Amino acid sequence: MSQSTTTEIDYNYKVVRQFTVMTVIWGIVGTFVGVLIAAQLIWPALNFETPWLTYSRLRPLHTNAVIFAFGTSALFATSYYVVQRTCKTTLFGGALVPFTFWGWQAVIVAAAITLPLGITSSKEYAELEWPIDILIALVWVSYAICFFGTLVKRKTSHIYVANWFFGGFIITVAVLHIGNSMALPLTLTKSYSIYPGAIDAMMQWWYGHNAVGFLLTAGFLGMMYYFVPKQAERPVYSYRLSIVHFWALVSLYIWAGPHHLHYTALPDWTQSVGMVMSVVLFLPSWGGMINGIMTLSGAWDKLRSDPILRFLIVSLSFYGMSTFEGPMMAIKSVNALSHYTDWTVGHVHSGALGWVAMISIGSMYYLIPAVFNKPKMYSIKLINVHFWMHTTGIVLYIVAMWISGVMQGLMWRAVNTDGTLTYSFVESLQASYPFYTMRFIGGCFVVAGFLLMAYNMFKTIGSKEESMQRDAVTA
Ligand code: HEM
Ligand code: HEM
Repeated sequence: MSQSTTTEIDYNYKVVRQFTVMTVIWGIVGTFVGVLIAAQLIWPALNFETPWLTYSRLRPLHTNAVIFAFGTSALFATSYYVVQRTCKTTLFGGALVPFTFWGWQAVIVAAAITLPLGITSSKEYAELEWPIDILIALVWVSYAICFFGTLVKRKTSHIYVANWFFGGFIITVAVLHIGNSMALPLTLTKSYSIYPGAIDAMMQWWYGHNAVGFLLTAGFLGMMYYFVPKQAERPVYSYRLSIVHFWALVSLYIWAGPHHLHYTALPDWTQSVGMVMSVVLFLPSWGGMINGIMTLSGAWDKLRSDPILRFLIVSLSFYGMSTFEGPMMAIKSVNALSHYTDWTVGHVHSGALGWVAMISIGSMYYLIPAVFNKPKMYSIKLINVHFWMHTTGIVLYIVAMWISGVMQGLMWRAVNTDGTLTYSFVESLQASYPFYTMRFIGGCFVVAGFLLMAYNMFKTIGSKEESMQRDAVTA
């Protein structure tokens, strides 16, 4: 990263501040709904026989809230901050910049209203109906103009690697969203996909998997490449590896979608391509993880005293774990056991709560004082408490899901000597209850941690202390 000692550049921090605060607020909302649906799986009466409180409507509310409200707000905040800092120029785009903030919040509010009402396209992670899809496309294209416009008017000679990842994620999400959302509207609240049968499934999981690969992975790797070196006060371990990492990751991810459709009507060869690409994807994923973790070389002692760095580095360990598990689950014979079980849900949350949430939380703890012009967070001790609450919550969650997932898979395939099933489905459900309770407790830890974070954030913002130093230090 290039160094500068001046503080004269008039960075646009307003939009970064807005997205930063909303990241924490949506983090609380999204994980709270997660805990609510986790509780409903133990106590179904918690839907109070009210249609808009049913599991089937709240589940997509949870996934949309955590991915598009919490995760994507974190991506907006960090990409807008990083592109300005590393290009040494203010954000391009004029009125488009606030439009991306208010437009995106409008999308979230529209999702929060329509999903509980049961208005859905029924495509996972793309449930929102066509008028909202159009708004998403408009906001996203504006975001691309602001981001790439800033890159074009940069004052530096090269483009720092974090921006490669952010840029890759922005372009690909636009293509995926527009491609997968092509639909024939019937009414204002109902449309049908233009793709037929198996082609629709293929499009959906090409979108779905690349939402994981580009939104939940590449974007957050952009965060990693900026905030890990910053917080560790070390240069990135290998710049060359980061470029290889980028190209290998983007060229492999795009083919892996069919691993979501093993043993379906999709042509067999496409399933095999998806499997092979997923297995190879292990390599760039681990290359990236190693690059992030090794950035700490010579500064490992900081992990003892710096809970922000701990969030960032432990997130990379979870990234490594989920990108080892994912390729394994993509192997057809393993998928035959894991598919439909809680193992998938455990994998999702080691990626989502471990990688996505922890890298975002660590980056937010760095950003909050930086963009509100404070010397540091109000309480480092509370960050540490948050770290342990979040980590305890994840471990309870994913261990519970691994055990119940493998158990379900084994129970479903167990047969007696006469060929009949050993267990009924209800028996496997009964056996899962203790693990659902364990997940619920883990989820409560995570939400409580987010509430602590909000308290710490508002105390920091409200403090009278001002930092005159921060810009010069972090430039
Ligand atoms: C090398 C990297 C990865 C590979 C090859 C991979 C592979 C897989 C496989 C095989 C499944 C199960 C599909 C099924 O049986 O239906 C899956 C599900 C999933 N993975 Fe991964 N995974 C990877 C990394 C990640 C990461 C880092 C995240 C999260 C941040 C993630 C999020 C998800 C989600 C959300 C699903 C569930 C999709 C659904 O059925 O709704 N994956 N992944
Ligand atoms: C307090 C924390 C959380 C709890 C208690 C929680 C709980 C849940 C539950 C109960 C489900 C439904 C599982 C099922 O249908 O069997 C679910 C699904 C999901 N959650 Fe969470 N969640 C939490 C945090 C998060 C976060 C932070 C993210 C993403 C950044 C996330 C992403 C997802 C995704 C993608 C799915 C769909 C998985 C699939 O289809 O396989 N969750 N969550």
